Amino acid sequence: MSQRVFIFDTTLRDGEQVPGCQLTTEEKIIVAKELERLGVDIIEAGFPISSPGDFRSVVEISKAVSEPTVCALSRAVKGDIDAAGEALKWAKKGRIHTGIGSSDIHIRNKFGSTREKILEQAVAAVKHAKTYVEDVEFYAEDAGRADLAFLSQLTEAVINAGATVVNIPDTTGYCLPDEYGKKIAYIYEHVSNVHQATISIHCHNDLGLATANTLAGVMNGARQVEVTMNGIGERAGNTSLEEVVMALKVRKELGFFTNVDSTRLFPVSNLVAEMMHMPVQANKAIVGRNAFAHSSGIHQDGFLKHSENYEIMNPQDVGVDKSLIVLTARSGRHALKHRLELLGFRYDKPTLDGIYTRFLDMADIRKEVNDKDLMELVR
Ligand code: KIV
Ligand code: ZN
Repeated sequence: MSQRVFIFDTTLRDGEQVPGCQLTTEEKIIVAKELERLGVDIIEAGFPISSPGDFRSVVEISKAVSEPTVCALSRAVKGDIDAAGEALKWAKKGRIHTGIGSSDIHIRNKFGSTREKILEQAVAAVKHAKTYVEDVEFYAEDAGRADLAFLSQLTEAVINAGATVVNIPDTTGYCLPDEYGKKIAYIYEHVSNVHQATISIHCHNDLGLATANTLAGVMNGARQVEVTMNGIGERAGNTSLEEVVMALKVRKELGFFTNVDSTRLFPVSNLVAEMMHMPVQANKAIVGRNAFAHSSGIHQDGFLKHSENYEIMNPQDVGVDKSLIVLTARSGRHALKHRLELLGFRYDKPTLDGIYTRFLDMADIRKEVNDKDLMELVR
């Protein structure tokens, strides 16, 4: 039996924090509605105490969507929680996401506090958030570098205080997949009330390991993943939604599924890239321009014989129209012949050989040969 993994999208909170990515409330509503259509389970809509605009965005998104839970961020501070609770009043399903640093580095250098005081503050924050909503998520910031025994103690205490979800973030993108997976396994083994809550994964991509760490977390028991569209987020970004969704879908044998309609991934990726002024790199997994483009002769020949030779998913599964054969000086005769036939030109072998020689000369100069160039060539 496949198990459901809940998708918590933080494009509009952790993603929107990135310089240059700020959206107006109206733009956020457009993105939130697209995320709802995509099938995400939770939308983190903002951090209401941070500005009147963010407060308003959480209010308006709460009114605009009905299927996903709307989540508001707060620190473990009364005023923050009050603002989050107020902003969520219109949500059909509202969640407060409150938390505090859990690593000694954060406890000492950021809060000038002690483990004991952090524990008390965490419990008080969860109890206060519960006065506004039933669904309270606690984040143990910098859990990636936290002492495991303390992290387990903190997790147990916030679940006792009423947390429905406990987020174990690798805030600084420090963990390695095996290490992060073991951290989640340790929590499952050592926290006596762990099954009363959902354990959530929130990874940053500083070492390029966010997706790998997220999958390691899922394989060790976590059932919620915190992700952003195109992986946008602080510094090197967050785990990208499309990568986790497709990894779980393509590798079915892992035994997980999500509610995401994967055929909406490419259009939503484009929308977010456009609105947030954050272009997607060409070689980005799943949604990059080259994700379904084949350019070397060996790959093109193999792909034309059978797409499965070089593709592990259909482009249509992620909302991309079709795969591309890009004609460059690395392309072989097979790709050239294929493209010419699509344009309506069929040649015998000696003629094709002649065209191919001239094609290579052209490709060396123009780098990429398009249909217009080909027409010029055959003329
Ligand atoms: O990276 C992080 O720890 C966060 C928390 C606020 C959840 O974004
Ligand atoms: Zn984060």
